[in-house]
Amino acid sequence: MFEGINKFLARVKEENFVFVIPNERCRKAMAIAITEMSKRNKNFVNLLNHTFRVASVSLYLAQKEKQTAASKEICFLAAIFHDVFKEEENHEVMGGDFAEKILKSLKYKPDVIEKVAESIAYHNNNEKILRTIEAKILWDADKLDKVGATAFLRRMDERNLKSRLEKDKNVFLYLDFSKEIYRKRTEHTNECLVVLKK
Ligand SMILES: [Fe+2]
Ligand SMILES: [Fe+2]
Repeated sequence: MFEGINKFLARVKEENFVFVIPNERCRKAMAIAITEMSKRNKNFVNLLNHTFRVASVSLYLAQKEKQTAASKEICFLAAIFHDVFKEEENHEVMGGDFAEKILKSLKYKPDVIEKVAESIAYHNNNEKILRTIEAKILWDADKLDKVGATAFLRRMDERNLKSRLEKDKNVFLYLDFSKEIYRKRTEHTNECLVVLKK
């Protein structure tokens, strides 16, 4: 029994990357995003955890894709703002507009603001083929949070857990590094599903 729990915890640990906030201006933007998120969402705590996981995977993917510091910052900001309005209809549009407003007030350059806002605006749109690397990274990092031992843990109290997990394995990803993470995480999901069947 304990062996099983240790293995499960090791999977969760493996899935959660440590990340560093890129700089002070990002820290300010993050504080504003989190404050707004806390006011707007009943499910704030889970959403915040999801947001940090997406930020950590985004930075990991940006690193793997050999992105510049400027691009990594765009990825971080997009992740932090992407679900601020999660519980509203069209949360991606509201999130994009809000990020634009806040980043303007923090004197970010127009091209940075545009890339962050575009990444957020399309992170939930299945019909759009994403053009920038930053938008692809946000898309992939967000979808990767649906698979693996952490996703299982997050959803343990949900009804129809098995079918939800099976369904969530059907995700479209852009980047090869994301597909690598996906392969490992689906193995973890499958292990959890085997245990559930017992
Ligand atoms: Fe979202
Ligand atoms: Fe999300």
